[in-house]
Amino acid sequence: MPKLNEHYQDLKESYLFAEIAHRVSAYSAAHPEQTVIRLGIGDVTLPLGSLALEGLHRGVDAMSSPDTFKGYGPEQGYAFLREAISAYYEKNGADVSADDIFISDGAKSDTGNIAELFADDNVILIPDPVYPVYVDSNLMSGRRITYLNGNAENQFLPMPDESIHADIIYLCSPNNPTGAVYNKGQLKIWVDYALKNSAVILFDSAYEAFITDPELPRSIYAIEGAKRCAIEFCSLSKTAGFTGTRCGYTVVPKELVFPASNGAEMSLHAMWNRRQSTKFNGTSYIVQSGAAAVFTEDGMKQCQANIHYYQENARIIADTLTRKNIRFFGGVHSPYIWFECPNQMDSWEFFDYLLNNAQVVGTPGAGFGENGKNYFRLTSFNSHENTIEAMKRFEKLF
Ligand code: MLT
Repeated sequence: MPKLNEHYQDLKESYLFAEIAHRVSAYSAAHPEQTVIRLGIGDVTLPLGSLALEGLHRGVDAMSSPDTFKGYGPEQGYAFLREAISAYYEKNGADVSADDIFISDGAKSDTGNIAELFADDNVILIPDPVYPVYVDSNLMSGRRITYLNGNAENQFLPMPDESIHADIIYLCSPNNPTGAVYNKGQLKIWVDYALKNSAVILFDSAYEAFITDPELPRSIYAIEGAKRCAIEFCSLSKTAGFTGTRCGYTVVPKELVFPASNGAEMSLHAMWNRRQSTKFNGTSYIVQSGAAAVFTEDGMKQCQANIHYYQENARIIADTLTRKNIRFFGGVHSPYIWFECPNQMDSWEFFDYLLNNAQVVGTPGAGFGENGKNYFRLTSFNSHENTIEAMKRFEKLF
């Protein structure tokens, strides 16, 4: 009989978005006449830009001839894409070497898998509320988590508590689910805290392309000292509409070297390289060819046009909440709007209420942590038409 990883018992029965999908399917099956509008999971709806598509087609064509055919690629990703990403970082005010970049199938896998590089007895700080993958992937190996409270008082931007020592810190900015963004001064405080504690920051910047204020940092490497304490995860899912195409990247600077318990110096870059080359055969050449087109000047303009479309939806949602006097966060440098559930409802109660009475799907804040239990998240990733219709239905209810 196998001995099981019983830490799985510490997880909720299903992953947040699987639970939502299940409830929505049950509702639709019972009410087939109703049109449900989905503003729940942050999944894009606009098609890929023409340049990304051409890049994908070029990748497919390369497979048709023995001269250009690609078999296994480098596990770290092709140099042409890593170099394009390094140049993108430079434009955004951060110096990141192509050699420190690992191409992946998205930030979800890498933020979940990175925990493998660390022992189980670290002091792990995770904000609450936050993207559930960080918490679940640590619970799966039985780790203890110290939560960092995000709330309306700190604008959902928790700062370090100097009296607590941490070894590993998860940060997400622009934040999923709250849409809050750390400014440079706040991130500098986190970097200084990490350096003082010899801690590692695991920084998720999957929503960086939504930042429109040039003063706000789009990468933790815009902060001095970050290469000595931070790993960064990013993704083309929200930047370029690759949620179904799948491509992300993780930066593990070579500067991240820490002593092991036997005194040996261990490099996180070398460890991640070893992990990836053992367990991952790389992102497909076709996808990397499409991704490289995203990082050209015109490719990025096409992505920005789609992002502007979603930002307009966020404005429509924010305007409705303002008219209804409902306190909200985010929605400016982020596709997410995070608001207090009206009428003191808790977030799952509000989820059911909104689904049953307006046929609008959102994400209950409780799915992102204890501090989200009276909050609700809407995304701006649906069409203008659906967002306007959802907000009309919403306005009628409150
Ligand atoms: C979300 O809705 O929080 C995201 O789409 C989840 C993800 O990126 O995996």
